[in-house]
Amino acid sequence: MERTPHSGRRTVGLTAGFAAAAAVLCAGALTAPAHADSTLGQLAAAKGLYFGSATDNPHLSDTAYKQILSSEFGQLTVGNTMKWQYTEPSQGRFDYEQADAIVALAEANGQTVRGHTLVWHNQLPDWVAAVPADRLPGVMRDHITDEVTHFRNRVVHWDVVNEAFEEDGSRRQTVFQQKIGNGYIAEAFKAARAADPNVKLYYNDYNIEGVGPKSDAVYEMVKSFKQQGVPIDGVGMQAHLILGQVPATMQRNIQRFADLGVDVAVTELDIRMDLPRTEAKDTQQAGDYSAVVKACLAVSRCVGITVWDFSDRQSWVPSVFPGQGAALPYDENYAKKPAYHAIAAALGGTGGPSPTPGTGTCSASYRVTSQWQGGFTAEVTVRNTSSGPLGGWAVTWTFPDGQRIANLWNGEATTTGSSVRVRNAGYNGALGAGASTSFGFLGSSAGAGRVPSDIACDRP
Ligand code: XIL
Repeated sequence: MERTPHSGRRTVGLTAGFAAAAAVLCAGALTAPAHADSTLGQLAAAKGLYFGSATDNPHLSDTAYKQILSSEFGQLTVGNTMKWQYTEPSQGRFDYEQADAIVALAEANGQTVRGHTLVWHNQLPDWVAAVPADRLPGVMRDHITDEVTHFRNRVVHWDVVNEAFEEDGSRRQTVFQQKIGNGYIAEAFKAARAADPNVKLYYNDYNIEGVGPKSDAVYEMVKSFKQQGVPIDGVGMQAHLILGQVPATMQRNIQRFADLGVDVAVTELDIRMDLPRTEAKDTQQAGDYSAVVKACLAVSRCVGITVWDFSDRQSWVPSVFPGQGAALPYDENYAKKPAYHAIAAALGGTGGPSPTPGTGTCSASYRVTSQWQGGFTAEVTVRNTSSGPLGGWAVTWTFPDGQRIANLWNGEATTTGSSVRVRNAGYNGALGAGASTSFGFLGSSAGAGRVPSDIACDRP
């Protein structure tokens, strides 16, 4: 099995995963349109990145779950059982039994593994907090050394330190910060490097997906590590996101880290919504997932994406954010949601749910949602106005004042001069009787910016 750690996408083109994906795509082409049956893992591999899922030991007794976990993803993250609480429950007593079980499953499936996590203030056994300050550096090093050594050549990345910063960019006052001081993060990375010269070493955190005070602080730390020769290879952006709030600066932020000479991985992606789920929220979520995948694809050093488990049945969200959930690409019964198809489409897949032929009729309404000097955003709502199903739609209009579309989401646009035609995306074409969906765009306008008067909707 290929054990070369992922590093800058340009160097992974010849990994076993890529070759396998290419072989599958070729074989598929003989009988079916290419990509039609590709998994997310294969689609991602064909683009030079991985697409993975976190998992946890108790889930593996569910056969349907295990089947999808084993086939759909190119990479696994051990969601809990590599954490300190499990691996060194009392000082010097190391236990890797549960983590080993997941790593063995990944190896049997030809999947890579991200190690998560060595130094974190949560899921830390009580005895660590009681270690005197002068002995904590040694205790931290011993923990790292033992665990990294145990998994040498079996994991491709380590999240060496997790969640060390506050929202304002200051250091989180963890036991490590308080007893060892600012230098503990660099010490942790050096210990990990000493235990394994090859594994990629990551700093991992949440709310660092966009540009802001917290990601600025991580950026400064990575920059200083690079200047001082502290071994760091990557930054993990957890991406526990909220519906409709994918940071607009995500691609730019990934790029600025890449420009420091580190890889970036999206390590714990989920996009939660206020329950209950609705068709409109699912559509928004599909667009959000697509935006994250596209932000990663746009930067060659963004090496992969991991969802924080793949099905709403196993998601951690409802237990931690009351009233919220439905954050993942599969529903509680393991059916693929619009988010799944949006990810596949963003990764270059052409599959998607087979469209119902549909005989319905539709209407479209156009609304400017914000406007400023030279620019605007608009939202177009498409409604199935018939009593039968609609399998797809196309909306057309003419801009009266020379407006242009800069960026459109939840649809596929073609423009000829001032004429615009927007087709449904892979995931929002099917509308039941009376149902509606919407797409939106960012536009520029030099003139009056009047709303088009000829907007129309038809089957494609
Ligand atoms: C979560 C797990 O998913 C839960 O099962 C567990 O109870 C708590 O931890 N950031 C991280 C992950 O880095 O380790 C967390 O995982 C989610 C937030």
